[in-house]
Amino acid sequence: MEKLKIIGGKPLIGKIRASGAKNAALPILAASLLTEDPLIIQNVPHLKDVTTTIELLGRMGGQILIDSNLNLEINNSAVTDYCAPYELVRTMRASILVLGPLLARFGMADVSLPGGCAIGLRPVNLHIAAMEALGAEITIENGFLKARCPKGYLTGNSFTFDVVSVTGTENLMMAATLAKGTTVIKNAACEPEVTDLADCLNKMGAQISGAGTATIEIQGVDRLHGATHSTIPDRIETGTYLAAGIITSGKVLVRNTRPDFLDAVLLKFNEMGALVETGTDWISVDMQNKRPKAVDIMTGPHPEFPTDMQAQFAAINAIATGRSIITENIFENRFMHVLEMQRMGAHMEIDKNTVTCLGQEKLSGAPVMATDLRASASLVIAALAAHGETIVDRIYHIDRGYERIEEKLQQLGANIQRI
Ligand code: UD1
Repeated sequence: MEKLKIIGGKPLIGKIRASGAKNAALPILAASLLTEDPLIIQNVPHLKDVTTTIELLGRMGGQILIDSNLNLEINNSAVTDYCAPYELVRTMRASILVLGPLLARFGMADVSLPGGCAIGLRPVNLHIAAMEALGAEITIENGFLKARCPKGYLTGNSFTFDVVSVTGTENLMMAATLAKGTTVIKNAACEPEVTDLADCLNKMGAQISGAGTATIEIQGVDRLHGATHSTIPDRIETGTYLAAGIITSGKVLVRNTRPDFLDAVLLKFNEMGALVETGTDWISVDMQNKRPKAVDIMTGPHPEFPTDMQAQFAAINAIATGRSIITENIFENRFMHVLEMQRMGAHMEIDKNTVTCLGQEKLSGAPVMATDLRASASLVIAALAAHGETIVDRIYHIDRGYERIEEKLQQLGANIQRI
């Protein structure tokens, strides 16, 4: 099994380029099922979750062409299989995203219940309720969601999410594009990836307004056509490399990114004492060789502080000056990284959904185990600041969400190797 070997203690200095957003690419790949025409997707990150989704589309009968720049052309005109099997989707919860498109175009879908990160229960009840609101009938049989449209098509309706759900909003938005009549989604997720999906769907001929706000309206159309779309930059990847700069008291600039997607995070970097500068498509942080100050954070739906940056901030707080409290409001059980950081010498205590941390001057390298995608990234950045050698095991989690992480960190001067 591959591992990362990191020798810490060196300030990271340099410039790197952000990749396309995983969480935008995955729903857009699923949206290709909504049309018989080719969909061309650019700026797709080279990640395990993307390859898994491509394999899933291929199993269903989709044809995928990849050019040398990793642009994808997907042609789903020959799809005849409406099943997302367990062996493909067990590692990737986002596979639930094929449910809405399959139902909308074919009136049926059999989707294995997803696996994915071990960060709590992560049920799919909202996805089911949303599809039922459009007239689908759904049963659970042998670990599969079996969804059918008794009328052969979906019907527009109003649906309120009682918990804000990113992929839930995306699934419903995709399903509603081909439904008869109008759908109104209330308490919709406002994440930039939801807006990016809506932009792509509108290029395909959908009529969606309000994406990026809590109320999205979708006027159903008879068919969608092909389009070319470039996915937005990955704000979490961007934030992770900036965090690596901060934790090592270094200076990092990320290009090809979007500062406006990271307002809440940049504010906190500033509070930590970093000099934060932005241009239209770049962000830089400079710690000026200082140790960061500890900050309190509280996760919430966009535009609040993203749960996907919580673990990286826990790592910074572990070596920062002062005491801090992290409150996780999105997922239960998303503190697996804390136990590993304690093994590196962090003074942290978990109490329900909060972690109290007293920053230490140094962490020490140790063998640690990656448990979920963002937790793994946080262990890598903790290792970059630690004294001595850290081996991060089970890094397949990292490869699900970070393109060439060791190469990008090497570009910033890190001593990191895949072994
Ligand atoms: C997406 C992101 C993930 C991010 C998360 C929160 C993708 C592919 N993944 O995950 O990186 O961490 O948003 O920003 O975009 N919930 C239910 N019932 C459901 C669905 C969700 O109770 O049917 C709950 C979840 O358990 C969680 C909350 O809703 O407590 C938010 O989860 P959700 O936004 O759905 O997360 P994902 O879309 O899976």
